[in-house]
Amino acid sequence: MSLYRIIRPLAFALDAETAHRMTIAALRALPARRPPDSPASLRTTVAGLDFPTPVGLAAGFDKNAEVAEQMLSLGFGFVEVGTLTPRPQQGNPRPRLFRLREDRAVINRLGFNNRGQADSFARLIECTHMHGGVIGVNVGANKDSSDRIADYVAGIRAMAPVAKYLTINISSPNTPGLRGLQNEGALNELLAALEEIGVGKPIFLKVAPDLGEADPERIVRAALDHKIDALIVSNTTVSRPPLKSRHAGETGGLSGAPLRPLALEALRNFRRASAGEIPLIGVGGIGSVDDAWERIRAGASLIQLYSAMVYEGPQIAARIARGLAERVRREGFANVAEAVGTERI
Ligand SMILES: Cc1cc2nc3c(=O)[nH]c(=O)nc-3n(C[C@H](O)[C@H](O)[C@H](O)COP(=O)(O)O)c2cc1C
Repeated sequence: MSLYRIIRPLAFALDAETAHRMTIAALRALPARRPPDSPASLRTTVAGLDFPTPVGLAAGFDKNAEVAEQMLSLGFGFVEVGTLTPRPQQGNPRPRLFRLREDRAVINRLGFNNRGQADSFARLIECTHMHGGVIGVNVGANKDSSDRIADYVAGIRAMAPVAKYLTINISSPNTPGLRGLQNEGALNELLAALEEIGVGKPIFLKVAPDLGEADPERIVRAALDHKIDALIVSNTTVSRPPLKSRHAGETGGLSGAPLRPLALEALRNFRRASAGEIPLIGVGGIGSVDDAWERIRAGASLIQLYSAMVYEGPQIAARIARGLAERVRREGFANVAEAVGTERI
């Protein structure tokens, strides 16, 4: 029986944010150990970076870069820390994080609570990216910033030295107006400003699942024009598919199982719009080997997860990686990269 099966009832007896804080504290106490060896068939290269497995930890779990190496030792092929804003900020008032147990989902309206970029920089500089695991840094804008584009430029500059890749997060629903940066004029202005700095590290753009029909094509065009290296599809949704939990009416971004069909559809739309010209990273509601495989065949070169780990424990990454290796073999592919985008659309 996994340790998490014992810990889970204790964690679930606490409110979600306290449980998260205690989980981070427990993980910090773990020595960063050698991760399980990844089979050669799972190794993959995206945006010039070598990933030991395509299964990553999505942004938001390790906001302050406290346990990135521990998460790599637990079997994640890559870990995205953040979102980090230039200055520390408190985020929204509590309660602001809800487990929807009956739906295997989470609603959060944290609002980029984090200790600021300088604080994480000091820790990330110590990271050795053990055994090839990749640590990416996700950056955002402060809520009270008068110039959000300047915040992204500052974040990319500040964090590039300690990041293998950087993610521009313009898709959180919890900072009022942030998603407006996905609109045409604002997006081009932002991406042009980032292109100008030329930090020499791959830059990924993370998008929302709640987009209009013409948006994927427009966003892909802007990303290609400004040499973005990959698109992360997607962040949480502000929509509310049918839910059973008493927390269903809470404001915020919904993640976990109910997001799966929306995020999968969004990924397919981005694949259609991009026709293989830019790598896609699939995230949203992935909780099993089948989900991961479906996302890869739909066009994801890498996948990420967060909410399923709340319900299944951190071993989920190693379990999905093992299952993927088996699936690659069974379906007659030489490696996982060969399976990317093999679903017919
Ligand atoms: C509690 C919580 C906090 C999150 N915080 C961030 C964040 O700071 N930045 C970000 O880009 N995404 C954040 N996300 C979104 C996740 O990275 C991911 O895109 C989303 O949860 C969908 O994946 P999942 O269904 O596997 O959780 C957060 C998600 C959750 C549940």
